[in-house]
Amino acid sequence: MTIALKFDDVCVSYGASRRNAGVDALMNVNLTIDSGERVAVVGRSGAGKSTIAKLACGLTKPSSGCVSVFGTDASRASRRELRRLRHRMHLVFQDPYQSLHPGLRVGDLVKEPLLITGRGRTTKSAVPDALARVGLTPPSQFMDRAPATLSGGQRQRVAIARALVARPELILADEPTSMLDASLRATIANLLLELQAEQNAALIFITHDLALARQVANRIVVLSEGRVVEDRPTEELLSDPEHVETRKLLAAARQQPKEM
Ligand SMILES: Nc1ncnc2c1ncn2[C@@H]1O[C@H](COP(=O)(O)OP(=O)(O)OP(=O)(O)O)[C@@H](O)[C@H]1O
Ligand SMILES: [Mg+2]
Repeated sequence: MTIALKFDDVCVSYGASRRNAGVDALMNVNLTIDSGERVAVVGRSGAGKSTIAKLACGLTKPSSGCVSVFGTDASRASRRELRRLRHRMHLVFQDPYQSLHPGLRVGDLVKEPLLITGRGRTTKSAVPDALARVGLTPPSQFMDRAPATLSGGQRQRVAIARALVARPELILADEPTSMLDASLRATIANLLLELQAEQNAALIFITHDLALARQVANRIVVLSEGRVVEDRPTEELLSDPEHVETRKLLAAARQQPKEM
C-alpha cells in the first residue's frame, strides 16, 4: 500500500509574528491517506479545509509538524523533488474565477497539464475528449474561448477537464462543484470518481455537502476549528456520528431541501 499523503502533528498559523499570535487554521492534525482511498474532508466555513489542500500541494507551509507526499517530506524536498511531486498531483481549486489563467484560451488551459508533464505530444483528441466528458460540447465551440467569457459552472468544468488530462495519482478537489446545479454536481463528482478509479489515485474531496461526501468517499474526516474531530468510514460515521460537530453537520444537511 502506498501512502499518498501523510500529516504528522501539523499546525498552521496564518500571519503569526512576534507581536501577533496569528490565526490558528490547523492544530495538531494527523492524517494518512493511501493510494486508492477516497476521503471527504467536511466542516464548516473556516474549519481549515482549504488549508489542508494548500499544504498538500505546497502552497502553504506548516508552522510545525510534517507534511509528506508519496513518502517525501514536502518542507525538506529540493525544488526538483517538489516539481516531480507536483506532477503526480492535481488540485481543483474552490474558486474557478481565480484558478484559471485569464490570458489563456480553454484549449490551452486544458492542454497545460499535458505540457507540464511532458506529454504534449499525446493524441490531439485528448483535449476535446476531456471537454466533451465534462459536458462542454461541442468542444470546438469552447476551445478558443477565454475564461472570462464562461459562466462560473463552465469554468468549474474546465477545471475538472484539466484534472482529467493530468491523470494525477493524488487528486485534491476543493469544493469542485459549489457553482453547479444539483444534477451537474453529481455528474462532476462521478467524473472525479472515474478518474480516481482509472489511476487508483488517492482522492481528497473537500465539501460541506454531506450527501455529496457520501456519494464520493469511503472515509470522512470532520474538521472543526482546525482540529480533526472524527475520521471514520463513511457509513459508520453517518449512521453513528460521535462528535457534536458531525451531528450538527448532519442536522444541517437534513434541513436542506432534497435536490438529488
Ligand atoms: N492567507 C491567510 N491569511 C490569514 N488567515 C487565513 C488565510 N487563509 C485562511 N485563513 C484563515 O484560516 C482559517 C481556515 O481557512 P480555510 O480557508 O482553510 O477554511 P475552509 O474550511 O476552507 O473554509 P470555507 O468552507 O469557507 O472555504 C480561517 O479562519 C481563515 O480566515
Ligand atoms: Mg475553503
